[in-house]
Amino acid sequence: MAGTTSTPRGLDGVVAAQTKLSHVDGQNGVLIIAGYELKELAGKVTFEEAAHLLWKGHLPSKEEAAALTHEIAELREIPATTLAVLRAAKNAPPIDALRMACATLSLDLKDPNDISPAADFQSAKMLVARFPTIVAAHTRLATGQEPIAPRKDLSLAANFLYMVNGTEPDPIGARALDTYWVVVMDHGMNASTFASRVIASTRSDMVSALTGGIGALKGPLHGGAPGPVLDMLLDIKTAENAEPWVRNELTAGRRIMGFGHRVYKVRDPRAEVLAKVADEMTHARLEDHSLFELARTVEGTVLRVLDEVKPGRNLKTNVEFYTALVLQSLGLKPTTFVALFACGRAAGWCAHVIEQHAEDHLIRPQSEYIGPKGLVVGK
Ligand code: ACO
Repeated sequence: MAGTTSTPRGLDGVVAAQTKLSHVDGQNGVLIIAGYELKELAGKVTFEEAAHLLWKGHLPSKEEAAALTHEIAELREIPATTLAVLRAAKNAPPIDALRMACATLSLDLKDPNDISPAADFQSAKMLVARFPTIVAAHTRLATGQEPIAPRKDLSLAANFLYMVNGTEPDPIGARALDTYWVVVMDHGMNASTFASRVIASTRSDMVSALTGGIGALKGPLHGGAPGPVLDMLLDIKTAENAEPWVRNELTAGRRIMGFGHRVYKVRDPRAEVLAKVADEMTHARLEDHSLFELARTVEGTVLRVLDEVKPGRNLKTNVEFYTALVLQSLGLKPTTFVALFACGRAAGWCAHVIEQHAEDHLIRPQSEYIGPKGLVVGK
């Protein structure tokens, strides 16, 4: 169904805001983050340094990076109320628990309604610091274990893995998660970023904006489903089985998870980066490389068969395909994948809230009324 005469349905292709934060070039497969191509940043800067780039507009000096990393580390501990909510939500999906816990984080702000640049920067550090603590605490509560207090001497990613497992992660694992968070931190005017900006545009606060952002990310059309990618690989089992499996799915009218994208018509540059991370993780840390090798074969087969069965649709590998392999190789459960995505995307949401508060213009589109008119009560 078409939209109004002036706007396409779902605002497809509509420019909803000007931003200096990120640009998605779907034709050329390029993602620009505040001036840098993703492949230039990923693996070269830490998540905290990349957050500085988004929040302050430039990569930090050594001193700035150390200061921001330290300030974020100091803010990791979650308040008792937040922990109480997580205990109550221990059986809820992790992304729901994160949304509920996030909403409590305005309780210990001096003035939750302060949306000045200084207050926003403080909230951004606090939110990015606490999301991983929340997800780790919930992961443990969900399996009947007590949460582990955060440490200040580890990077955000290393500390997350420590809080989940109770042991310090190896540097390759910590770096992989750190890179994953850099890879997903911002991506143009995606649905959750738009939702966060709409909330911020009413001069509402950052905690409210991120709580709404999490709600938008949760949906299967956005937060994606790297879980089903794993299911697919486990179901295919062997390289020989890949082609008949894929053809069978397509004949049944089902989609192949981890392929296709609304904006990218070539390989998603995030998939490119995460494929390398998955490769490194597998070969440096795991004795069994079979899942990675199978994924490589399945990727090639799916691309070939999609090209044949869906010619001209340009269905290429998206970010979810290798996300599944990276997070799975860290020993993390598929149910937590969307919440882990939110931990990275939080840096982008905060940056968009800062930008929207500076813009200070209410986002308030119109709707096209298609209901009846002139009805009379009682008739
Ligand atoms: N497998 C098989 N066919 C596909 C796939 C797929 N993964 N993706 C699209 N198609 C086909 C459609 O069936 C349609 O075919 P038709 O022209 O014969 O009807 C054609 O390609 C166009 O499909 P649309 O739905 O119009 O494409 P859209 O751009 O809206 O879809 C989407 C993008 C939702 C990501 C889609 O490619 C998809 O469902 N992929 C699988 C799920 C997935 O990997 N999701 C994660 C995306 S990344 C992220 O959100 C972070």
